[in-house]
Amino acid sequence: MAEALTAAPASIPALLAGATGRLTHAGCDTPRLDAELLLAHALGVKRERLLVDGALVVGGAAGETFEALLARREAREPVAYIHGRKEFRRISLLVDPRVLIPRPETELLVEVGLGLPARSRVVDVGTGSGAVALALVDERPDLDVWATDVSADALAVAKDNARRLDLSVRLIRADLLEGIDGRFDAVLANLPYVADSEKLPPEIALYEPRPALLAGRDGLDLVRRLVGMLEGVPTVALEVGFDQAEAVAAMLSRAGYHLVERLRDLAGHERVVVGRR
Ligand SMILES: C[S@@+](CC[C@H](N)C(=O)[O-])C[C@H]1O[C@@H](n2cnc3c(N)ncnc32)[C@H](O)[C@@H]1O
Repeated sequence: MAEALTAAPASIPALLAGATGRLTHAGCDTPRLDAELLLAHALGVKRERLLVDGALVVGGAAGETFEALLARREAREPVAYIHGRKEFRRISLLVDPRVLIPRPETELLVEVGLGLPARSRVVDVGTGSGAVALALVDERPDLDVWATDVSADALAVAKDNARRLDLSVRLIRADLLEGIDGRFDAVLANLPYVADSEKLPPEIALYEPRPALLAGRDGLDLVRRLVGMLEGVPTVALEVGFDQAEAVAAMLSRAGYHLVERLRDLAGHERVVVGRR
């Protein structure tokens, strides 16, 4: 068992070395990076300052804060929940365990939205923190952006983010697009797509909301239902798991989308399926 850090004064390199060892022992994937982010957070500075201020000795309240943050990360709480924030394209979103932490690959959905004609009406289904809808309206204020979520908790976070960022999105509580009266030029969605039986890392399994993750035996229950609601929608973009693009592309072809494209994430996996008609 690694020895717990005390709040005794220590230099930044010594604190980071100790913390990195503890996070490695706890099984974290990026222990050094996480230690730097948490120490910067405890000190209220940007991460780069840790290099510049390497000789600084940290103790007292800042040392205690760092110890508390580190203990949370050792319990595998995601850094974004510890910070309470996640950067997504040009915006910084408030996040907590009521919403999924937005992932970099989801920015592909925003990129599809950026290609829409002026003043298109677009809906982000399963908006969570509001990431896709808010990033889109931030970069394309001409678009008429709607967003739905079945979770009242998630919508409260999205509403808070919209107000704080001063961005205008129509937020609606709905089961997918059920009961929504409006014709859309595009539907964008990062819905739950994890199969019920899939084993997840502790960061996800213990902290992220289950209704934001799981979607039946093959993980495609919600995507399947949404595709069944798309009559007349010219453009659809759906985020999927790394091994689901084939099945979802076939689903969109069957639904009448003659042009079906797959977009890859930075790791080269097909993660967003786009259908046009
Ligand atoms: C994977 S999370 C994605 C959140 C956000 N779009 C993002 O990319 O960060 C899925 C979201 O879909 C919502 N959701 C689950 N079932 C839904 C349904 N039937 N109708 C609408 N939203 C749903 C969840 O509450 C959750 O916020």
